[in-house]
Amino acid sequence: MTDQQLDQSRLGGFTYDPAPESASVARIADAYGLFIDGAFTDPGDHEQFVTLNPASARPLATVAHGSTADVDRAVAAARRAFPSWSTTTGSQRAKYLYRIARLIQERARELAVVETLDNGKPIRETRDVDVPLAAAYFFYYAGWADKLDHAGFGPSPRPLGVAGQIIPWNFPLLMAAWKLAPALAAGNTCVLKPAETTPLSALVLADILAQAELPAGVVNIVTGDGATGAALVAHPGVDKIAFTGSTEVGRLIQQRLGERGTHLTLELGGKGANIVFEDAPVDEMIEGIIDGIFFNQGHVCCAGSRLLVQESIADEVVRRLLRRVEQLRVGDPLDKNTDVGAINSAAQLARIEELTVAGEAEGATRHTSSCALPTEGYWFAPTVFTDVAQSHRIAREEIFGPVLSVLSFRTPDEAVAKANNTKYGLACGVWSEKGSRTLWVAQRLRAGVIWANTYNRFDPTSPFGGVRESGFGREGGRHGLEAYLDV
Ligand code: NAI
Ligand code: MG
Repeated sequence: MTDQQLDQSRLGGFTYDPAPESASVARIADAYGLFIDGAFTDPGDHEQFVTLNPASARPLATVAHGSTADVDRAVAAARRAFPSWSTTTGSQRAKYLYRIARLIQERARELAVVETLDNGKPIRETRDVDVPLAAAYFFYYAGWADKLDHAGFGPSPRPLGVAGQIIPWNFPLLMAAWKLAPALAAGNTCVLKPAETTPLSALVLADILAQAELPAGVVNIVTGDGATGAALVAHPGVDKIAFTGSTEVGRLIQQRLGERGTHLTLELGGKGANIVFEDAPVDEMIEGIIDGIFFNQGHVCCAGSRLLVQESIADEVVRRLLRRVEQLRVGDPLDKNTDVGAINSAAQLARIEELTVAGEAEGATRHTSSCALPTEGYWFAPTVFTDVAQSHRIAREEIFGPVLSVLSFRTPDEAVAKANNTKYGLACGVWSEKGSRTLWVAQRLRAGVIWANTYNRFDPTSPFGGVRESGFGREGGRHGLEAYLDV
């Protein structure tokens, strides 16, 4: 019997019944305006664009396309709100942040369903990761708001002013929380630009901000595409830009701002190595590898997209890994049993397809899950490449999809050399029973985040960010305040 047949016979022919979360709790409107100066604008006042549900490729809502004039109004509102917000006492600002955190908890189910519909990620993840973590970041930074004098940046550190914040589509609500919570705690006012394929959870958050009675203009949310983002970057009334997204756009923004001296933090791409030594705890390690690359369909900047496995155990690890990949449940993101959801957009799917075709053409061996894929929407079956060489595009370029490249190594030195053989430097994982070995390796890895015997763990108390082409600046923890203070 093959492993696959064995797994099937153990299930005794039974399969899961569908267990879908109801889409109706999302209460998505037909059309949305912009959130400027504490209120939503009339959708009829703007050009509109459509956001889709990637699991069906059908429209969910139309959303305002923020123009240069809209960005100008949003920045003006943030400027007007700054003198009062920045001199509001820390304990008072904390009260608003706590209130926002509690409202995110109260409206967790609605937010999870909205996020799953608009993004395509499984409800299990939005419910258990994105939404609770978004609340946790607001709770955490609420705690700092009245303690900035003791944050290690000198007495009475001052906010920077108006922060322009541009976020991507892979963790729409969570990235909004990562950006807004520390900025507000530090006394800045904000203009947030969500990604064009996933604007809806930020618009629910806008409603939450209004519900929390956050003073008008403290946070403005301007939906739109790259042109809207570029208008925000070009605006002379913005004192700081925080960007998460592609290395290409990050580089462009850096050039623009270099001429002006505006504060900047960038969180860009990655090609994380998950390094597995022969003494690693096997079951945890297999789950860690799976989570490292298939969590959020691999649309994760810190994904463990390169598996470096010690040669002595490589065959066994690959065998167990492929067996586990076969068990991943791919399909309806609203189903509570789904492990892997839809690819976020047609463009991202095309990019994943192009790179996997390149992987085969360059000589790597492709193993794709035999799972059935839905006929509508954007889907890509979990895929593992073996026989990967360091020169292959699939070992060098960020795929940002459910695709793992497996390479092997013999010695710790070789593992470190291979892990560091990338232009990026965001995250790595090390799996070993020996603490001394883990520390030895960790000290030599060039990456902002290193996980030991786990992967993709996020916590508001812990700083996150990259080196080299993965960007600079930290989000989360005490360090995350520095990006929004004049230090
Ligand atoms: P992108 O960098 O174009 O988009 C990210 C955000 O930047 C969006 O809100 C977008 O509207 C905005 N934007 C685009 N052009 C801009 C400009 N000129 N000025 C200001 N803002 C601008 O990323 P995209 O096209 O969605 O994805 C391309 C690749 O980037 C992905 O395949 C992936 O490899 C990487 N990526 C990395 C992310 C990360 O978490 N570090 C997140 C999203 C994408
Ligand atoms: Mg969408």
